[in-house]
Amino acid sequence: MQTPKAWHANYSVGHPLLDQQHRHFLTLCENAPACLLADHSQAQEDSAHVLLNELAEYARNHFREEEAILRDVGFPQLDAHVAEHNRYEERLADHLLAAIRGEIDPRALCHFVTSWWVEHITTSDAAYRDYLIQPR
Ligand SMILES: [Fe+2]
Ligand SMILES: [Fe+2]
Repeated sequence: MQTPKAWHANYSVGHPLLDQQHRHFLTLCENAPACLLADHSQAQEDSAHVLLNELAEYARNHFREEEAILRDVGFPQLDAHVAEHNRYEERLADHLLAAIRGEIDPRALCHFVTSWWVEHITTSDAAYRDYLIQPR
């Protein structure tokens, strides 16, 4: 499993609100293995559902805010970026449905959320940094 990276100044996209939200996701990802891979007590299951819901709800708000900002600055790869956000939401929805059916795959879910956020923030989000610093 890929280990989540701690926040680093190089991850900054040049926008304080988006940076703050990205930090929050990396923290969630750091906590995901402890939350999802421990024993199967009721408390553990409850915290896994809280984490899943936060990963879905908070992401939805973050994506819409980020997309609005990118639209404002005329980011040329906006459509592809939105499609990437949509794919995350679809894949997380699949995991949520599996969890509701009691068929959660904690290892696959941990791998997905940690690798997706680290990869997305450091590559796809990093690609719009120059547009936020020097709007065109
Ligand atoms: Fe993004
Ligand atoms: Fe983002």
